[in-house]
Amino acid sequence: MSLVGRDLVSVLDFGREELERIFRTADSMQRFTRKCRSQLKNYVMATIFFEPSTRTRLSFETSMHRLGGSVIGFAESGVSSVAKGETLADTIRMVESYSDVIVLRHKVEGSARFAAEISGVPVLNGGDGSQHHPSQTLTDLFTIRKEFGEIDGRNILLMGDLQHTRSASSLAYGLGHYKAITLSLVSPPNLGMRPEVTDYLENRDVKYQEGQDPADFIGEADVIYVTRLQKERFPDPKKAEALKGSYILTRELLKRAPKHAIVMHHLPRIEEIPLEVDYTPNARYFQQAANGVPVRMAFLYLSVYHSKYHPVKQREPTLRSSDTRRCANSNCISNQPREPILPMLKEVMSKGERVLQCQYCGRYTKE
Ligand code: MLT
Repeated sequence: MSLVGRDLVSVLDFGREELERIFRTADSMQRFTRKCRSQLKNYVMATIFFEPSTRTRLSFETSMHRLGGSVIGFAESGVSSVAKGETLADTIRMVESYSDVIVLRHKVEGSARFAAEISGVPVLNGGDGSQHHPSQTLTDLFTIRKEFGEIDGRNILLMGDLQHTRSASSLAYGLGHYKAITLSLVSPPNLGMRPEVTDYLENRDVKYQEGQDPADFIGEADVIYVTRLQKERFPDPKKAEALKGSYILTRELLKRAPKHAIVMHHLPRIEEIPLEVDYTPNARYFQQAANGVPVRMAFLYLSVYHSKYHPVKQREPTLRSSDTRRCANSNCISNQPREPILPMLKEVMSKGERVLQCQYCGRYTKE
């Protein structure tokens, strides 16, 4: 399927062939990350970030500049009309008329899916809630492919706060497109991968194992992917404080990994990777962050170049759904009372039980 005009809401919306196309384009973009090209001259990208960001926003902006386009936007909600009470829907309706592509980061889960529904220009998800971070996943898969030649057959250790880290769940979704993957999910108690993600892995026949001690799994790992404790997503900050330092990839621990293993991290790292690891031949997290530019250049080029503005016919939300059941996740976009949106729930099976899955945030609600 053509990538022209496509949103980037979740890696689940793409097939393996499409991912490969993005990576091949990123391969060729690598030569231009320090030069200016002109394919997106006269196109405008809006970056609207309601949460802090360094890499995602700056690498998207660099990518657009390198392709000859221009950038508008804001990096915190305090400087936009949201501070005055504007809804996300109204913000998107304005910004889509000023730009050719919107990059959105938001703390409410499912925001990017909703924004893509109401926007006439492509919406690229720069991370929403703790579920999806597709441009990070494209960067991560591209990095693994570049290091090993292919992604199939890799043994990947994902360690840290797997419950709240969107880069981790998003990467697990991305790996579901590949064959013979072994995934070790290692986290402190109660911070494991959420059931909708492990159900997905089972449905895609991805072999995964869960544990609490990275030492049990590191000996087989090709990739050691470390995540930070997402303390801002803990309902009780004291619980996050108590878990500080509960997992650290020390140089000693790294010695148990195969020589060829690479260490990745979505960054920022806090204390889970000490500085001493930076000087090992295994560290790849800065290279990984650098790969974000050719990958985002590739997606922008494929989606925005030649894309046409398609005004979306706004419908009253009451006409969209007759379902009155609500998603149980209070941080879901469908539960934001001032947004023109209704819940969209779909019946699915989880571990032999019937549950409702929200089509915006992906979370389960018991019937
Ligand atoms: C994000 O998910 O916002 C960042 O890329 C990583 C992080 O905040 O840990």
